[in-house]
Amino acid sequence: MKAVIAGTGVDEVLSSFDESTEETYYGYVTYYRKDDVIIIPRHRKKHTDSPSMVNYKANISALVSLGCKEVIGIYAVGSITDRLPPSSFALVGDFMDFSGRNISFFNGEENPLKHTCMDNVFDSELNRKIMEAAGCVLADDIVYVMTNGPRLETAGEIRAFGRLGADVVGMTLATEASLLKELGLRYSALAYSINWAQGVKGGELSFISGCDTAKLCRHLLDTAIKALS
Ligand code: HPA
Repeated sequence: MKAVIAGTGVDEVLSSFDESTEETYYGYVTYYRKDDVIIIPRHRKKHTDSPSMVNYKANISALVSLGCKEVIGIYAVGSITDRLPPSSFALVGDFMDFSGRNISFFNGEENPLKHTCMDNVFDSELNRKIMEAAGCVLADDIVYVMTNGPRLETAGEIRAFGRLGADVVGMTLATEASLLKELGLRYSALAYSINWAQGVKGGELSFISGCDTAKLCRHLLDTAIKALS
């Protein structure tokens, strides 16, 4: 079994899949299925969970109990550099976590304390399969910085993140990537940009349309399913 975890824009495409529920130690998870690929809407159906409230541990536990070994995460982001402008997508190669969240399977509560190494978080073979499915070469070294949300960043925060080497900003990847790495699942991350981050190009923060966001998300979901099949 394989899996895709997706967020902004995924709701519009879920109606064509069968819905099921998996009970886990951390709570129940609603998922969708297409052949041997499981799809989890990370914010739940209708996007009700904010990034800091997503039940990341339940989502990932459900994947493990359903027998998933490979996972592709799909993330809407804001662009900090020209390496991934709005309406484009690429593979994430590294992340920085400024969320202050402290979420781990090995925090000494339900499991003994363990410090998991964050080397090779993203799987190069899975990245290769994604590029093959996409039919093009994608950058695979995009640097993602994570904030806690749900508020967006200030221009000063974005300027600082850019100086530290971040290409894009979002609110979910670092938590998900860390937990997947803790459990040893093979994982790749596709980021698609829906706006210039605050202050990057001056003017008001503006997002691409909901329709374009859903279209991009659908395209990436199809690409991910093809890569995993
Ligand atoms: N900031 C944080 N998360 C985001 C953004 C942003 O500008 N765009 C999409 N997700």
